[in-house]
Amino acid sequence: MLTDSKRLMGIAVDTAREASAVAMQGFRKPLKISTKRDLHDMVTAYDVATEERIRELLLAHEPGSRIIGEEGGATGDEGKLAWYVDPIDGTSNFARGIAMWCVSIAVALDGRIVAAAVYEPVSDLMFHADAGAAFLNGQPIRAEGATRPEEATLIAHYPMPWDLAGDTGPVLAAYEDLVRRYAAVRNLGSSALSLSHVAAGWADATLCLGIKPWDVAAASFILKQAGGRYRGFHAGEPVDGPQDYLQKHYLGTVEGAQFPEIERILRRGSALLDQKGDDAVARTATASGGER
Ligand code: IPD
Ligand code: CA
Ligand code: CA
Repeated sequence: MLTDSKRLMGIAVDTAREASAVAMQGFRKPLKISTKRDLHDMVTAYDVATEERIRELLLAHEPGSRIIGEEGGATGDEGKLAWYVDPIDGTSNFARGIAMWCVSIAVALDGRIVAAAVYEPVSDLMFHADAGAAFLNGQPIRAEGATRPEEATLIAHYPMPWDLAGDTGPVLAAYEDLVRRYAAVRNLGSSALSLSHVAAGWADATLCLGIKPWDVAAASFILKQAGGRYRGFHAGEPVDGPQDYLQKHYLGTVEGAQFPEIERILRRGSALLDQKGDDAVARTATASGGER
């Protein structure tokens, strides 16, 4: 099992690195930014081209794989091996020239993630994990950090536009409490990098409401393999275990941290969003897709 997982990690690492060169060609260059679901959901030709390159490389290594990618959807038959691909996680940063984005690739065997790579090419940071451990540029990492709010850095992807539908008063109030109580609260604009920062012990907790499997499949695994904790949330309840990356909301923390005040946001926020149904709630459509 570990041999297979190591081999698959090698494929994820090599593919993420090689495909990132496609994205880098467009970084800090004049770009046409298009939007998908609403004005907050951006995409560029580099997202699409990077994913195409990833698909070519993965299929060359593992023909017949199923690939679930943000831009190209799900292709290939249901089988043992499934790859979750986000060609550029942090597109709104990438599109404007902010160096906080990455390529994210995870592979699942019979539904269970067994290897992953998250690559940030600007600083050459390769976060990766196999069934045995998690690494940064080949060196083992541990998710160790602060466990008390007053010393902790929280990366909160909240409030996002889609979080603001419905009666958000109690969730926003709980968030305001976090801003006061935590040493620092940040939003990096890339869930995969945020979780990887916790895995490396550079931040202590991270949360997001309204996420897709390709955003978190790789980094949630890296965090767990680094000794941290990843919990999915659904309809107000935590979901632990091998299917956690399929949930739409998450909390990631360093080893041994509880942070019940953050968990409260996840419980309340996920209950609020999930009771209203999938995408109607998940995103407040403030504009239709197009170019700008
Ligand atoms: C987004 C980022 C962001 C998260 C959004 C995602 P994208 O992915 O991960 O941090 O808050 O929910 O959609 O669109 O840049 O690939
Ligand atoms: Ca993403
Ligand atoms: Ca993306």
